[in-house]
Amino acid sequence: MNTLTKLALGLMGQLKPRPAVDAAAIELPPPRRGGGMALMEALQRRASAREFEPAALGEQLLSDLLWAAAGINRPEAGGRTAPSAMNSQEVQLHVAMPQGLFRYEPAAHALQLRVSSDVRRVTGYQDFVDSAPLDLVYVADHGRMQLVPAAQRERYAFAAAGAMAQNVYLFCAAHGLGTVIRAWFDQHAFAQAMGLEADQQLLLCQTVGQVKGDRQP
Ligand SMILES: Cc1cc2nc3c(=O)[nH]c(=O)nc-3n(C[C@H](O)[C@H](O)[C@H](O)COP(=O)(O)O)c2cc1C
Repeated sequence: MNTLTKLALGLMGQLKPRPAVDAAAIELPPPRRGGGMALMEALQRRASAREFEPAALGEQLLSDLLWAAAGINRPEAGGRTAPSAMNSQEVQLHVAMPQGLFRYEPAAHALQLRVSSDVRRVTGYQDFVDSAPLDLVYVADHGRMQLVPAAQRERYAFAAAGAMAQNVYLFCAAHGLGTVIRAWFDQHAFAQAMGLEADQQLLLCQTVGQVKGDRQP
């Protein structure tokens, strides 16, 4: 669907998800935590992409990607790969795919089905989001920020989501994938499609996939 159609449907309150194919919870293989590209080289390659192949990521690559974004790297303390203010861990990572919308559960390292619809096209006004294999969705759970002064919660959550997004940028650079962080979406249509609760706030989105014309990593 093109951008103008999305804007028009959004104005009429009619920007809606598509039915999902084959929705179910997804078990992930353990993430691979060793090896990979040198950090300085990944930084050298980091860039945004906006043209993607529709092919799904393999389950190992998806597992590694989610761990890089929000996984537990210090199990004894439940520490994560990205920082959060007072270790609130308030940013929940969701994944929009053709099979549905899932929430990443770091402790179980699994994807929990949240919505049985393909919400990808509602995740942004740009047309590539409809067919790229997945969109990461960063949602703040304000209920987890009781220790943070109320006036600071939103900006702290955006900072935490930004740190996670940069982990994803570097992961993608190191694995020959394309990605782009995005804030241009219909907030209302998107929150409705996700069935967000009052204390949940939609922060950012990030498309991930193989760049059009590139070989499969
Ligand atoms: C907060 C934020 C919001 C953004 N929103 C969008 C967006 O909605 N759509 C998009 O295509 N790019 C978006 N971008 C990506 C920027 O356009 C991109 O990072 C910038 O052009 C620099 O390009 P580079 O990432 O390749 O260095 C966003 C970036 C940030 C930090």
